[in-house]
Amino acid sequence: MVIAIDGPAGSGKSTVAREVARRLGFIYVDTGAMYRAVALLASRLGVPLTDSTALEQLASGTKMHFLPSGDRARLLVNNEDVTDSIRTAEISQGASIVSTVAGVRHALVAMQQGMGSDGNLVMEGRDIGTVVFPNAEVKVFLDASPEERARRRFAETPGRATIERVAAEIRERDARDEQREHSPLQRAPGSIVIDTTGLAIEQVIENILALAQKGRGSI
Ligand code: DC
Repeated sequence: MVIAIDGPAGSGKSTVAREVARRLGFIYVDTGAMYRAVALLASRLGVPLTDSTALEQLASGTKMHFLPSGDRARLLVNNEDVTDSIRTAEISQGASIVSTVAGVRHALVAMQQGMGSDGNLVMEGRDIGTVVFPNAEVKVFLDASPEERARRRFAETPGRATIERVAAEIRERDARDEQREHSPLQRAPGSIVIDTTGLAIEQVIENILALAQKGRGSI
């Protein structure tokens, strides 16, 4: 069974997807981390984010896998643990830029589809229900008001300048992720939309677990 969870930054995807996977004993895959890893490598190697060909080569020549570990899966890139270094504001914007490149998407989508061949999985991102697993048994689109999403991101990242700055960065990423030509962020046909503004995380998790149960009969 595949549970596909899509939505914009700050919609609650990671927290919810991770916990749903943990309770069901499913594999959890954070596809945003993979786009972030390409942005990190580009920055380290001095590859300009405008060089689509080099970015595509970087994505297709990189080995990525997730190691389950405690509360969050660790991402190994060419055997280096990059889990913490990909969580900066600069890498967030870089990931959003590299994800507009068709060749980068192509390489990462193929890896993501391969991760699904081993069994039950919860995968979160922007195009899981539309492109990676359009036949997923459960498809969820999480959303929340822009103010609430900025508030959550600000609370998660101590040391950031102001909430207005975080809100502006989210707006910029939303616009790019929704308007790009290849696999833009959109609600997948057949997906259930959950607006998480004002909802407790536990309510969202239980909603998704109920959908999973319906999708499968019983788990
Ligand atoms: O989920 P995140 O914030 O870590 O994602 C970082 C960027 O990666 C996001 O701005 C858009 C891109 N992304 C994507 O295009 N497709 C995905 N399936 C996941 C992320």
